[in-house]
Amino acid sequence: MKKRLSGYDSNKRYFWSPAFDCVNDDDHLRIGAFDFGGDAGGIFPELYYITQRGATPCEMMQRFTSVDPGKLEKLIKELVQKRVLVSSILSPSEIFEVQSRMFKNEYDEETFLNPARLEEYRRKQLNRRPNLNETGKILLEQKEAYPELISQRRTYRTFDTDHRISMKTLSQLMSVFRQVCSEGEIRYYYASAGGLYPVDIYVYAKDNRVESVQGGLYYYSPIDNSLVLANSSCVITEAAHLFTNKDIFRSSALSLFFIYNADVSMPKYGGMAYFYACIDTGLMVGALTAVAELNDIGICSVGSMEFDRIKKYFHLNENQTLLHTVEAGLKPKI
Ligand SMILES: Cc1cc2nc3c(=O)[nH]c(=O)nc-3n(C[C@H](O)[C@H](O)[C@H](O)COP(=O)(O)O)c2cc1C
Repeated sequence: MKKRLSGYDSNKRYFWSPAFDCVNDDDHLRIGAFDFGGDAGGIFPELYYITQRGATPCEMMQRFTSVDPGKLEKLIKELVQKRVLVSSILSPSEIFEVQSRMFKNEYDEETFLNPARLEEYRRKQLNRRPNLNETGKILLEQKEAYPELISQRRTYRTFDTDHRISMKTLSQLMSVFRQVCSEGEIRYYYASAGGLYPVDIYVYAKDNRVESVQGGLYYYSPIDNSLVLANSSCVITEAAHLFTNKDIFRSSALSLFFIYNADVSMPKYGGMAYFYACIDTGLMVGALTAVAELNDIGICSVGSMEFDRIKKYFHLNENQTLLHTVEAGLKPKI
């Protein structure tokens, strides 16, 4: 039997994560933000090259026979633990945060700490226009008012915590994600690349906030439009949220987690399937927004959270990753 050492799984092939650069400054190795000092320099860039196509820890060990095996094993474990060497698809933050390396940023951090400068930045962005000749401009008229679900929509960050969401309202809200079978064909109320629908939805309901629903984590099954209890004992707390979003979570009744399942669409679309799933998620939240507005439910998208703190409750496989979270609750009574 192959051994499973704590820190890595010897059966798995590990890949160098594209999220990490590897720089050797004066024989001083730096991988991403981590400083590995002078010791590890001897196995680089070789380790970087051999893990581009994936290598098991054993293959890595065999490659560097002149290096102290104890030290090498420790280093490999550290690289796995820091997710420099990965055996799963990357999270959105791992993929996208590196883009800022190439981006020419004319703003410093102070802009986002100083309210006046932040407002100036926001105004500039909201008033941007391409540099075009205005003589070709056609002014459009909007004669018909949009229905309130579009014109009155806004983000809610506080919710009515005195009343429970009724089962009818919960059902209306979630059913926008259901499968509809008509004339032998499966369809949904929103579009998805290739009609594959690779985004799984989990719902966390707080205790006593939804009629007839015990607190816990549920998987939403679009096949029979049901909530299947995935974990009854887990308690998600505000610790899973960034400081600015903790109040939103404290007041919400439900959290919806949109999880990309690469097994569904990567076989067909390769890496671009991930990008399409991000777009699918936007369309799903758009559909959710409409039914929420029709049912007196307020919602707030949450861009980033400390998902690693609660990931264990979801029992995801290595081809699944969180794309987006939405907090929801009854709109507050005014
Ligand atoms: C992708 C995405 C991420 C967001 N993340 C957050 C968030 O983390 N916290 C928050 O309070 N609002 C968040 N929002 C809500 C926006 O701040 C909000 O839509 C924006 O300020 C415009 O306000 P409105 O929706 O009321 O028109 C997010 C919205 C989107 C689409």
